[in-house]
Amino acid sequence: MLLRQLFDHETHTYTYLVADPDTKQALLIDPVREQVDRDLKLLEELGLTLVYALDTHVHADHVTGCGLLRERVGAKTVASSDGAECVDRKVSHGDKLELGALTVEVLETPGHTDDSVSYRIGDNVFTGDALLIRGTGRTDFQNGNAEELYRSLTEVLFALPDDTRVWPGHDYRGHTMSTIGEEKRHNPRVAGKSREEFVHILDNLNLPRPSRIDEAVPANRMCGQSPLVQGAQG
Ligand SMILES: [Fe+2]
Repeated sequence: MLLRQLFDHETHTYTYLVADPDTKQALLIDPVREQVDRDLKLLEELGLTLVYALDTHVHADHVTGCGLLRERVGAKTVASSDGAECVDRKVSHGDKLELGALTVEVLETPGHTDDSVSYRIGDNVFTGDALLIRGTGRTDFQNGNAEELYRSLTEVLFALPDDTRVWPGHDYRGHTMSTIGEEKRHNPRVAGKSREEFVHILDNLNLPRPSRIDEAVPANRMCGQSPLVQGAQG
């Protein structure tokens, strides 16, 4: 399988391109609207056809590129059944998408937001903001819930084999990937922590409100195609 990790410097967001090299079918996970031209150019250069554009959740820090990718190249948009109404395919825990020889398995991993899902493809898991490298998403907006996140981490993601490769939705310290075993041992928020300790940590992060939340969340409920987004009609 072909896998490329792409980065948006403005929002520290990772976008992932995954493709089946035989059929040339591709998908993008968590595309950023401002990076759609970059992503389409790469797809074209690699001779790939974009079949799916997936979001791991309704993002608060950037506007999704999914709606624009649907408009430009006819990709089917995919997200949780608890998320944006605009998507073509609403998925739930255990659902599977076929991409050539590859299978994408949906894992519901709520807690950062109530609509957060992870996508497992072979021995790779794309965790959005549920599990970050040596960190986790925050749980203080968009129906976030620290207890739910603890359950998603310990009972869903940490149930995967230890050598499963972890590809997060963001990184702020320069990490690119990890493994489930590594995060089980070294993630300071959850490794060796009880549920109560985890909740206490998450409830006391005192993070600033995301600067683009008022623009991004309503726009992302419309797959990034809100008229309020600059250039959304283009
Ligand atoms: Fe997020």
